[in-house]
Amino acid sequence: MEIIIHADYEGMSRAAARVIADIVQQKPDAVLGLATGSTPRGLYKELIRMHEEEGLDFSGVTTFNLDEYVGLSGDHEQSYRYFMNEELFRHINVPPANTHVPSGVEADLAAHCKAYERQIAEAGGIDVQVLGIGSDGHIAFNEPGTSLGSRTHVTTLAQQTIEDNARFFKEKEDVPIHAVTMGVGTILEARKLLLLANKAGKTDAVADAVEGPVTSMCTASALQLHPDAMVFLDEAAAGKLKLADYYKWIQANKPGARKG
Ligand code: PGA
Repeated sequence: MEIIIHADYEGMSRAAARVIADIVQQKPDAVLGLATGSTPRGLYKELIRMHEEEGLDFSGVTTFNLDEYVGLSGDHEQSYRYFMNEELFRHINVPPANTHVPSGVEADLAAHCKAYERQIAEAGGIDVQVLGIGSDGHIAFNEPGTSLGSRTHVTTLAQQTIEDNARFFKEKEDVPIHAVTMGVGTILEARKLLLLANKAGKTDAVADAVEGPVTSMCTASALQLHPDAMVFLDEAAAGKLKLADYYKWIQANKPGARKG
């Protein structure tokens, strides 16, 4: 795991966007795994800037999102399909038909989950998967206790997650209780993982994920099993990492890094 600590959210977002841009430039038909939430907003803003100012081309790209609330259709303002359209897709030149977000309104959700896995496989797998982390250590909606081998499934949100996400809804009671989510096993198959976390509210979850034991009690800890996982943090989110100075030392002394 590579831990990259930035002074602020903007620096963190720009650095993560650079990784994705490099992949898209090297592989114009790259398959991107995307995430919602407040954390990746800055990353998407930077990708949009790169598209507008530097001509970063998404015309051959395919995307798969991590999750969606059960019961919210894509035109609901709090659905993750709506979020992605507003925060990224409509500002870049990715063909809408190439963008995939699980549906939370299918009659047969179990069949939909299987089909989503199949679509990912048929696209050739995910080249790079963007991840946030919940204050309870979840990735996507894989709440504590979820199998580290899980595939795309319907899950019940933890009460902590409902409280965390209530800020986006008028009332806490409006937050859906169920969601469709890629599983931890699905996520681990992406060729590269980028986890982003900022703000002090994520400090404990980040410490558990990066330096704690690998356990389903903190599904983000599964990143420790992945051969190519990058973790982008701001100083606040990195606040409880025991080896923070060492991670900074590694970055400062990377082969080819400029001295001084
Ligand atoms: P946030 O959510 O980016 O809105 O903090 C992250 C998550 O729950 O995965």
